Amino acid sequence: MVIDKYELRAIILSGALLSVFFFAVLYNSYSRKIDMPTCIPFDKTFEKSQVKKIDDDLYEVYLVAGMWAFDPEEIEIPAGSTVDFYLTSKDVVHGFHINEKGVNMMAIPGTINKITTKFEDAGTYRFVCNEFCGVGHQNMMGKVIVK
Ligand code: CUA
Repeated sequence: MVIDKYELRAIILSGALLSVFFFAVLYNSYSRKIDMPTCIPFDKTFEKSQVKKIDDDLYEVYLVAGMWAFDPEEIEIPAGSTVDFYLTSKDVVHGFHINEKGVNMMAIPGTINKITTKFEDAGTYRFVCNEFCGVGHQNMMGKVIVK
């Protein structure tokens, strides 16, 4: 069997790209400590937003995305806190993106997505919706205030 040389190049290039993506995922999760978003079974009780203090440096945030705001829009935590974000949507698909922390999740109705991130430094971390969700999309944002 003879493989065309262009076909062979395409196969080698695909393999190389696949390796690059694979190592990029490993690098981000182990070196940069960026957690992989996980999908957990939908719980009917998760319809109200809340910020729960589990410990002095551990928080759980239940975020509800809806047209066109996040609930809660403002989250205040002390520096050095680790936050578990649980995210769902009450209407259409929204996004949840914290640029400085490499956090990027989708808010999907009937689904809860979870990601954990640590806020070492004080400051204001803006989060935005990055999935086009209608006429008010550009106003959909909030912030994590780390003190
Ligand atoms: Cu919600 Cu865009």
